[in-house]
Amino acid sequence: MIVHQKHKNIALDFISDDGMFLNIVRNNEAIRKWCRQVGLIDDLQQENWLRKISSDPTIRMYSIKDIGKTKSYIVGICGLTDIDHINQRAEFSCYIFPEVQGKGYATKALEVLFRHGFNDLNLNIIWGETFEGNPAYKLFIDKLGMKHEGTRNQFYFKNGKFIDAYLVSISRKEFNAIFTNNDELVDCGNNCDSNVVDFLEKDKKRRNCKCKKGDSTDHKK
Ligand SMILES: CC(C)(COP(=O)(O)OP(=O)(O)OC[C@H]1O[C@@H](n2cnc3c(N)ncnc32)[C@H](O)[C@@H]1OP(=O)(O)O)[C@@H](O)C(=O)NCCC(=O)NCCS
Repeated sequence: MIVHQKHKNIALDFISDDGMFLNIVRNNEAIRKWCRQVGLIDDLQQENWLRKISSDPTIRMYSIKDIGKTKSYIVGICGLTDIDHINQRAEFSCYIFPEVQGKGYATKALEVLFRHGFNDLNLNIIWGETFEGNPAYKLFIDKLGMKHEGTRNQFYFKNGKFIDAYLVSISRKEFNAIFTNNDELVDCGNNCDSNVVDFLEKDKKRRNCKCKKGDSTDHKK
């Protein structure tokens, strides 16, 4: 799992067995109306998509998990697609299950995803596209510091009409200026210096470790 010190209750994880049921959520009107998918996704298409994401190196999709003290549960899906290592850019996507929207999950998960994209996958630009009228646009601009790059005029046909699509993006430099410098961690000797840690190996230490830059506390005990 991918976890960041700042949002300890949020983890990006593999899409495992429960992935077969994701089409139920994707077909939900509250989600579907903001996605580029045309029509409903059946079980076979869902299965093909799962197979594709497990073998295509240009795609990294994750389940978003709320990891509570006693149990964790999946609240949505996010990921990077069209990963282009030559130009160091990728498109992002995210959806949160309708019953748990408005709790800050997308804001946190996308911050973790972007950090992963810039710091682990060596991306330079992360970009996205959203339909006019989608409240998610406010999230991208206000909470994640993305820029409105431009508008694709009447680019999609949805619900019987042509609609505009907004392109948004953020560069690694812009992201780091907003996020990384505020919570940079140092090696406290407990192997928890990475901003993005491998959850399975380091979770125990990570949860107990509160080290910040300049903190010389020895956590080894
Ligand atoms: C967009 C989406 C991912 C947001 O998930 P979420 O976990 O509910 O988002 P958050 O709780 O982190 O919301 C953060 C901000 O987004 C904006 N926002 C998100 N949903 C909103 C809504 N329905 N109405 C108004 N503002 C909204 C607000 O600015 C909000 O900040 P605030 O709560 O301080 O006002 C979710 O609504 C969703 O899955 N939508 C359908 C799919 C989609 O549009 N994906 C994005 C395109 S790839």
